[in-house]
Amino acid sequence: MTSTLLTGISELWTLDPALDDPARPGGVAEEQVLRDAALVIEDGTIAWTGPTAQAPSADHAEDLGGRAVLPGWVDSHSHLVFDGDRAAEFEARMAGRAYQAGGIGVTTEATRAASPQRLTALVRARIAEAVAGGTTTLETKTGYGLTVEHELEAARLVSALVAAGELDEGTFLGAHLVPGEFAGRAEEYVDLVTGEMLAAVAPHVRWIDVFCEEGAFDPAQSERVLRAGAAAGLGLRVHGNQLGRSGGVELAATLGAASVDHLNHLSSADLEALAATASRPTAAGDGPGRLAVDQGPTVATVLPACDLSTRAPLAPARDLLDAGAQIAIGSNCNPGTSYTSAMSFCVATAVLQMHLSLDEALRAATRGGALALRRSDVGHLAVGARADLHVLDAPAAIHLAYRPGMPLTHRVVRAGIPQS
Ligand code: NIG
Repeated sequence: MTSTLLTGISELWTLDPALDDPARPGGVAEEQVLRDAALVIEDGTIAWTGPTAQAPSADHAEDLGGRAVLPGWVDSHSHLVFDGDRAAEFEARMAGRAYQAGGIGVTTEATRAASPQRLTALVRARIAEAVAGGTTTLETKTGYGLTVEHELEAARLVSALVAAGELDEGTFLGAHLVPGEFAGRAEEYVDLVTGEMLAAVAPHVRWIDVFCEEGAFDPAQSERVLRAGAAAGLGLRVHGNQLGRSGGVELAATLGAASVDHLNHLSSADLEALAATASRPTAAGDGPGRLAVDQGPTVATVLPACDLSTRAPLAPARDLLDAGAQIAIGSNCNPGTSYTSAMSFCVATAVLQMHLSLDEALRAATRGGALALRRSDVGHLAVGARADLHVLDAPAAIHLAYRPGMPLTHRVVRAGIPQS
């Protein structure tokens, strides 16, 4: 077992869960950021953090030269398993056309036509892009296959990458859109999703998701999907309130979903419903670092890049925090509404446009994402955490918003291993 000591850290954002300030639940306490700090990595985990002056010796040592170190981003929402290009749809949208859920069908056609080898190569390239931007924990979804065969193929692809340590969490999104061949027969498609498709896919994923929205699945259909997923042992996630007040938030909070994502159109009752879940306790789950999927808060996950790319009203992250909800920031990398996995950009947007402070946004993109994925081993750098570091080419994390769009990622370390 070798150990590595990193010194010369101007700001070390440990975000140690034991030091949370109960008076400021979505923020970061002073003690959770160490100055002139050092850390030791041993066996892929954080073994020690503290002042450089008190650092222990280790097998290897490196001075980071006054850079800030954060936990790697935890991106709890992406759709990486796809083929095809929708740049023309995006261009038309920028010229005034509105986003419609139906665009998913275009990607579905291209994805069904792709070989498993090609899809795997595409997903790997997208993971590499995400990691290069500081992401060290990544969830991704099926949802562009929409037949038993193609959803199973996507789920197997995702689970193989999770097993190889290239991805972290897999989600079944058979209920992304009613595919063309089921036009006018949505209930029959829901029968398929909750029956044969779920039975085939469930062994390969930890989560089930549904697009609860006009043009996709209504609340009753969404509830059928989620209840079937829960009965199959999967944790629940919901795409909700993206295009209107879809009922997704209420459903997610009522059924105890781990996360409801998008949230562009919220009523005050929706804010209250999410805040009311914030104190639901979490419990140990099915492996080291994993929490039970059916306990804990329904995290309100905002997707700033998607809001910009669809010119949607920005999700009210500030109001959600002020109401007392637990929030996360995700990239929603997908070909239709958010073709970027750049979490640093999402964090900068959350600060500049959604009125979060830097520490609130940084926490939402790390600890928030981890909570939305029911993970306790990532999203922070307390002793025992997975050694996932995002080393900035900057002396302070505020540079992420102060210098938006600049290449501030100096190095990314995942489970103690430098990624580039
Ligand atoms: O999260 N909202 C549903 N799913 C994706 C969009 C997928 C697409 O348009 O291809 C999203 O934005």
